[in-house]
Amino acid sequence: MLYNSLYPASHFKTYDFTFFTFFLLPLVIPACLRVCTGRRRRESRGQYRNLDSHFHGNDSQTRSSNFNLATYIFNLTPMHDTQIRKLIDAEEKRQKKVINLVASENYVSKDVLEALGSELTNKYAEGYPGKRYYGGNEISDKVEMLAQERALKLFKLSPNEWSVNVQPLSGSPANVAVYLALVPQGGKIMGMTLSHGGHLTHGQKVSASGKFWMQVPYGVSSETEMIDYKELGVLATREKPALIVAGYTAYPRVVDFKKFREIADAVVYPEQGRRGALLMVDMSHFAGLVAGGAYPSPFPCADVVTTTTHKTLRGPRGAMIFARKDARELDKKVDKAIFPGMQGGPHLNQIAAVAVALKEAASPAFKKYAGQVVKNAKALSDELARLGWRIVSGGTDSHLLLVDVWMNGKGIGGKEASDRLEKEGIIVNKNTIPFDTRSPFDPSGIRLGTPAETTRGKTEKDFRDIARKIDKVLRN
Ligand SMILES: Cc1ncc(COP(=O)(O)O)c(C=O)c1O
Repeated sequence: MLYNSLYPASHFKTYDFTFFTFFLLPLVIPACLRVCTGRRRRESRGQYRNLDSHFHGNDSQTRSSNFNLATYIFNLTPMHDTQIRKLIDAEEKRQKKVINLVASENYVSKDVLEALGSELTNKYAEGYPGKRYYGGNEISDKVEMLAQERALKLFKLSPNEWSVNVQPLSGSPANVAVYLALVPQGGKIMGMTLSHGGHLTHGQKVSASGKFWMQVPYGVSSETEMIDYKELGVLATREKPALIVAGYTAYPRVVDFKKFREIADAVVYPEQGRRGALLMVDMSHFAGLVAGGAYPSPFPCADVVTTTTHKTLRGPRGAMIFARKDARELDKKVDKAIFPGMQGGPHLNQIAAVAVALKEAASPAFKKYAGQVVKNAKALSDELARLGWRIVSGGTDSHLLLVDVWMNGKGIGGKEASDRLEKEGIIVNKNTIPFDTRSPFDPSGIRLGTPAETTRGKTEKDFRDIARKIDKVLRN
């Protein structure tokens, strides 16, 4: 009827148009999209149709054989395990509802999720491309090599000078694998202490990195709350660590990798008649910023670079280890430490999802994103400071900031701050601040990060609003 005035000449034509618009189009468009994008219902794929009754019994046979128009049109596949489905739905809803300021979290693309949930999860591929311990790995090899190629390209590295291992299951095993490869058991690892912003795997006693190796801890200056490179140099010269770790979990400032290189090069081992400690940069937190040109690259200075793939890099949970290729054969040692040293079969679905994220991170849109992440963190930090909160080190150069909410008893504890904010839909994590006088369970600070909310399109103005909301919640 709506179209009668448009097509008054023929009733038949009008009927035809209505039929086409309201009935045929909704069927045809999704079908075309499904064919073009390859996003077919998994259950309709041969192997899953045959196996469906094996997984779910006869009940599902009737269920699959009944054509479901809604399922067809919207490309929805109902999950058989309704308990888990409900929990996933609830988590999705929670993620959408909150303001997520957890510095180590992000929201991945649908493509990353699709690769993660793909059939690649079914395959065993122990070993490396071309050298597997299982058959049927022609495609696995292509997936892994593509991820490696994209990783090197993203960080502007020549395959003649750098290797990359994309098999680490996560950041912690990646770091431990580097020590296993390059530091003799009981040897010294110089890493930032946890309460000043280091990670557990930088040699803390409670981690394997502190049980099998010895940490030489360093911290930030009590005056500036930033790294004091002079002090660091004195410590390294005295302690002679085998390896120095730069790159942190809760350090908001730019790291001077050149100074770290000089400090590492100045270490002398008289009994071995050689000089030069290894420099490992753990860029887990700021890898996405390096990729997007918003933070200095550690590659010109480091021997080894580790990174998680799920923080600013906006990929699936996972990790990579980059190693310099030269006579020291760091790359070969690292590969051996990952497999067979630490891990068995790689998670190919995860590696494929990492490859997807690496391609996304090479786009101009991601460059813009990385720059915005830093601008947003500065806006959040400046506004909180303006409202009277003490920002550790006086600000940020990255995606994260530490707020001293305790302020020597004038404010509130970190746990209470985090709990109060959560009640109001703002998710943060409580965090120690350098030289904290309170316990890690109820420290003086909270850590805030901008990667997740920047992915959702927020800009400086939104973050200034968020700062005011935080201020209100913490003061009431
Ligand atoms: C600097 C740094 N390295 C390593 C890791 C460990 O990563 P994962 O949690 O994936 O083991 C983290 C995690 O937060 C981190 O911040």
